[in-house]
Amino acid sequence: MKIAIGSDHAGFPLKEEIRKHLGEIGVEYVDCGVYDSSSADYPLQAKATCEKITSGECERGILCCGTGIGISMAANKVKGIRAACCSDYFSAKYTRLHNDANVLCMGARVIGAGAAMELVDVFLTTDFEGGRHQRRVDLITEIENA
Ligand code: RB5
Repeated sequence: MKIAIGSDHAGFPLKEEIRKHLGEIGVEYVDCGVYDSSSADYPLQAKATCEKITSGECERGILCCGTGIGISMAANKVKGIRAACCSDYFSAKYTRLHNDANVLCMGARVIGAGAAMELVDVFLTTDFEGGRHQRRVDLITEIENA
């Protein structure tokens, strides 16, 4: 599985930890920036990262900003993206099982790197349950296409 990652300046330190972690666990990734801590506008990195997914180049994405909220709001404006802002393990697991989330967003000012890596691992290894949840995801897509 190939992953797209991105962040603004506030999320940059956490993105760097994630980059290192993905390397260690052997997950291929594309880094869509930012590449240093200079002030950046998170919708730009959200768009660049999400387009790697909608183009088919990457299967899932991980985005970080200060809270995880702004960058998730921006990501969810990209057609075909289901981004979930998570700071706990249960949510990161169930957003895969029930929502088929394709982007995990986290706040570098909200959670520490240790917890974040556990969220990354469960997000990348949990499959969508389908069934009744597929119908609900389809209804989300209907709203997007209305
Ligand atoms: C940047 O200061 C901060 O606003 C941004 O990283 C994010 O938290 C927005 O939701």
